[in-house]
Amino acid sequence: MSALTTLRLHNFRSYEALDLELDPRPVVLFGANGAGKTNILEAISYLAPGRGLRRAALEAPVRHGCADGAWAVHAVLVNEAGERFALGTGLDAQKRTRRVRIDGQSARAGALAEILRLVWLTPAQDRLFAGPRSARLRFFDRLVLSLHPGHGRAAAAYERAMRERQKLLEEGGADPAWLASCEQHMAEAGAAMMAARADTLERLQSEIDARSDSQFPQAVLSLEALYEDAPSPSHGACTQALAEIFKAARRRDARAGRALCGPHRADLQVVWRAKDMPAALCSTGEQKALLIGLTLAHARAVAARTNTPAPLLLLDEACAHLDPDRRAALAAEVCAMAGQAWLTGTDRGLFEAFGADAQVFEIAEGAALAVTGR
Ligand SMILES: Nc1ncnc2c1ncn2[C@@H]1O[C@H](COP(=O)(O)OP(=O)(O)OP(=O)(O)O)[C@@H](O)[C@H]1O
Ligand SMILES: [Mg+2]
Repeated sequence: MSALTTLRLHNFRSYEALDLELDPRPVVLFGANGAGKTNILEAISYLAPGRGLRRAALEAPVRHGCADGAWAVHAVLVNEAGERFALGTGLDAQKRTRRVRIDGQSARAGALAEILRLVWLTPAQDRLFAGPRSARLRFFDRLVLSLHPGHGRAAAAYERAMRERQKLLEEGGADPAWLASCEQHMAEAGAAMMAARADTLERLQSEIDARSDSQFPQAVLSLEALYEDAPSPSHGACTQALAEIFKAARRRDARAGRALCGPHRADLQVVWRAKDMPAALCSTGEQKALLIGLTLAHARAVAARTNTPAPLLLLDEACAHLDPDRRAALAAEVCAMAGQAWLTGTDRGLFEAFGADAQVFEIAEGAALAVTGR
């Protein structure tokens, strides 16, 4: 079991100071709107590389009106092997950069991913299936990232090369060898991105398929891409094919002002298997159930990966649209996870199905009150 046993916040959003002592059971946070539940999940989300679950600016979490202008989150994590890590992160008020400490030593944010993985679902994702393609791809890429940490580097290299190529195309008269070299960089990074995405899709699908008795609907996932060829093209073949696509698209991309095809244009397609219904056409509650099923499958896929820490699961308002049977199924599934789950909701009654299997805190006025003893 991988779990936080301590969580401390300092000048983080609505909290001047918060200090939680925890055991490995799922953590339930309930309280009124605005009480500070999501803020706690967001604080935990900074224990991973990236911008947190609100994708906020680095300064945004600083408690409004606080004098020293810095926020901090400290946690103790105990992993499945029983190893203990003291993790700290926050805003360095002088340098305006993110600070990360692991066991008292300064560390890169990326090093956090070697110790802790996070999987989260927030109400902001409720419109995922009906919303824009780019948000769906970003969501999927985050799933890819937690299984393939190198995906972020490949995506950044791809973006850089794509911007450079576009500049050359729009300026006109560029040296063809220079253009070809940009396209080669794009193709190499793009092929790596596609391989990581394909592997993630396969792992997610097999986790979904393994639970045909789940209360959460089974999804069929696919990635609609512009480049599809042999079932699993080698990295070299894929790179070459992408480079050719980019070369052939030069004139069109110059006119369009952007690259019109490539892995950045992929779309995650989700279909409710039993009804053969695209997710975008499902009801609000059905879409939420699909999303939860996908999130749980993702958490299991990360947990199943060897040499990868079991993920903590952050479920913000996940119970809100669920009927009692699905709430009970969710409780059973999160209790069986290899990583601690954190759940929020406005009403304690939403979490009845956990019984004594969860530790419950009532959140109010910048404080957390333990409702069930340890
Ligand atoms: N930087 C900040 N400084 C101080 N307070 C903040 C800051 N950012 C957000 N808040 C406040 O934190 C409060 C709690 O927000 P949070 O999103 O955690 O509530 P919640 O309990 O999840 O509510 P809901 O049930 O509506 O989702 C809000 O009233 C918000 O205005
Ligand atoms: Mg909230």
